Amino acid sequence: MSRISIQDRADQMDQMQKWLKVYVGQPNIKGLEIGSHEGGSAYFLMNNILTHKTSTLICVDPWLRHPEAETVFRIKMEKFAGRVTGIRSNSFDWLIKQPISPTFDFIFIDGDHTASAILDDAILCLRLLQKTGILIFDDYLWQPKFKTTISPKIAIDAFLSCQNNLLVSFACRQAAVRFK
Ligand SMILES: C[S@@+](CC[C@H](N)C(=O)[O-])C[C@H]1O[C@@H](n2cnc3c(N)ncnc32)[C@H](O)[C@@H]1O
Repeated sequence: MSRISIQDRADQMDQMQKWLKVYVGQPNIKGLEIGSHEGGSAYFLMNNILTHKTSTLICVDPWLRHPEAETVFRIKMEKFAGRVTGIRSNSFDWLIKQPISPTFDFIFIDGDHTASAILDDAILCLRLLQKTGILIFDDYLWQPKFKTTISPKIAIDAFLSCQNNLLVSFACRQAAVRFK
């Protein structure tokens, strides 16, 4: 879990709402979330962004370390009547099987925070992002003391430096990427 306060989390959700506001109330919007835990951010996205009855969210999480979180997630998502799909898998195994196609309007990456996993998620998710879509990384600045490989920042910076077709914005310790 991110070592951030509830206030930080509220600020991050506010920021996500700003980045994603064009999708509010729109039909057929497709979101993807990597790392859902108990469904806090998924619940927020469903209530505030994917508000049209045809808009959907896919959530990918292995729910391995906290299996009870999956139960909480599924109970929370019942409210959205089949519009949220929870997939029990690590992101790499699921993403690598998806046909390369601009499918999602937005993707929120908040799964495995190790640099190598973030790099995999970034590369694989970009292949699934619509041309007008937005890819949001949570916890850009998060890093446990002395463990430099557990750092979203080094992976996101490396990913961005390999791409010349992306625009990036930083806010509330998150990074949001779009195609130029
Ligand atoms: C920070 S929590 C997600 C919190 C959630 N997005 C929210 O804001 O309410 C990180 C989640 O990532 C999941 N996770 C860990 N490794 C993963 C992987 N390889 N692929 C997808 N999810 C992963 C964990 O099981 C955990 O539930």
